[in-house]
Formats: sequence, C-alpha cells, structure tokens
Amino acid sequence: MWIESPTNPRLLVYDIAAIAKATHAAGALLVVDNTFATPLFQQPFTLGADLVVHSVTKYLAGHSDVIQGAVLAKDAAVFEPVKFLQNATGAVPAPFDCWLTLRGLKTLELRMQRHADNAAAIATALNGHPLVKRVYFPGLKDHPGHEIAKRQMTGFGGMVSFELNGTVEEVVTFVSSRRFFALGESLGGVKALVCHPARMTHASIPAEERAKLGLPDTLVRLSTGCEHQRDLVADLLEGLAAIEQARALRVAVTVPAYAHAGASVGSGEALPKALRGEGGGV
Ligand SMILES: Cc1ncc(COP(=O)(O)O)c(C=O)c1O
Repeated sequence: MWIESPTNPRLLVYDIAAIAKATHAAGALLVVDNTFATPLFQQPFTLGADLVVHSVTKYLAGHSDVIQGAVLAKDAAVFEPVKFLQNATGAVPAPFDCWLTLRGLKTLELRMQRHADNAAAIATALNGHPLVKRVYFPGLKDHPGHEIAKRQMTGFGGMVSFELNGTVEEVVTFVSSRRFFALGESLGGVKALVCHPARMTHASIPAEERAKLGLPDTLVRLSTGCEHQRDLVADLLEGLAAIEQARALRVAVTVPAYAHAGASVGSGEALPKALRGEGGGV
C-alpha cells in the first residue's frame, strides 16, 4: 500500500496508523510519501509505516537546486531489495548534490517553522475571501483532515492550495503576475512558488479524470517560501484585487452608452472610483 499524506495538491490527510493496521492485516507493507510533511512534522515509522520515501528535492534540500530522493525502511530485510535495485540501476546521488542536501538539512527546522507560519497566515487571509471558493490547508479547523493532522503531525506544513472563484483565464493571469511567488512546478524551497496544477503538475491527467479526482481547473497551489509573511499575503491579496478591478473594467466598457443618462462610455463615469484616473478618464 502506497500513500501520501498530506497529498499533492489538495493537502488531503490520511490516517496513517489506521491504514498501517489494515495494510498489515492484509499481509502487505505500507509505504508513506512524507515529502509534504517532512520528518520534522510527521514520523510515519512511529505510526506503523514500513517504508518512508521523500522527494529530497523539496523541503529536505530546501533551496530548489538539487534533484534527489530517499527511501528509508525500518527493517533491514525490507530495505535489502531496495538497496539491490539502487545498486543495479545505478541510482546513486552525486557528491555535490549530497553536500547541498546536507547543508540544507542543517536549517530544516528553522525553514519548516517559517514555512508553516507563512502557510497558516496565507490560509487565514484567503479563507472567506469572495474570490476564493475554498482553501485547502490542514491547519484550518474546517479542513476535513484537521483532527487527524493534529493527531499525527506536529505542524501543518508549508503548502496551501485554493480554488479561485473565477475563470481559468483569471487563474492564468493570477499565477503569472505575482511579485513574490515565482511560477514553478517544484515546491519546498526557500523561495515562494505558485503553480496551476491543471496546466502544470497535473496536466498529464486527462480533464475528465481530473474532474473525477476532484481537481478543479481553477485550483492554485502555493509553496510558501521563507519570505516575510506580510509580503506573501499582500502579494496574493493584490492579485485577487487585480481580478476584481479587471472585472469591473470589463463591465464598465461593455455597458452600452445609451444605458447612461448623460454619461458616455469611456468618460470614466461608468467606472468604479478606484479605476478612474486623476482626470476621470479610462
Ligand atoms: C509528494 C511528492 N512526492 C514525490 C515527488 C517527486 O519528486 P522529484 O521531483 O524529486 O522526483 C513529488 C514532486 O512533486 C511530490 O510532490
């Protein structure tokens, strides 16, 4: 049995201890992908996992400059065939990459605390915003996995996803025009990243399958960096405000002139105050 918790990109949380019990009762082994949580916030071996895997590329190395993975086993007999495969296929990491990873690991705790604080602030700021349909973050009380996360994790991690209450075109504009969130597929680095799963990380899944999996095309995934929380939150709120302004502008310029007694379209009268220039023009 192979699980990931929290999952990419909707941050679903699975009860690892319960799944370990059911898996062992069926005579199978449990593998847990612990990439999103990191060993700081979640320790799957203590919950019954037999193997733990990590994309080291992400939080463990932490600076978006290494591509590496790790497989860990509790039991030598379970690890043996994995080690054999590594040797047989030559999946050996380069010395410089190992050095970068070891250097990154020295600040894992500091970085993760900062990521988690930033993620909590962002989730709170987005939750309830009129342009946000839903926020996915295990630290929110209304997240379906919140109680399990509280039990099996010591922090909620640095990833936040949300559904924009808008069109795919608005999502594309939003993700490609942020000041602090670079557009990128990876995650877990000190630099904040934003991703549009439907067009990027999950684009290879056919649209109908994505819909069945509950992956809407308006989902946005954020990897909070270690930047200041004030800058990250402001950048996202500015992006949402820009969507609202663009909508207001579209309404204004598409209203027929005859609908305005005494005001012609383009005079600025039809625009909300915030969109009028100093001279009142468009
Ligand atoms: C949870 C999780 N596990 C594994 C991977 C694979 O990572 P890598 O890019 O290091 O192959 C990813 C990549 O996004 C991931 O999100």
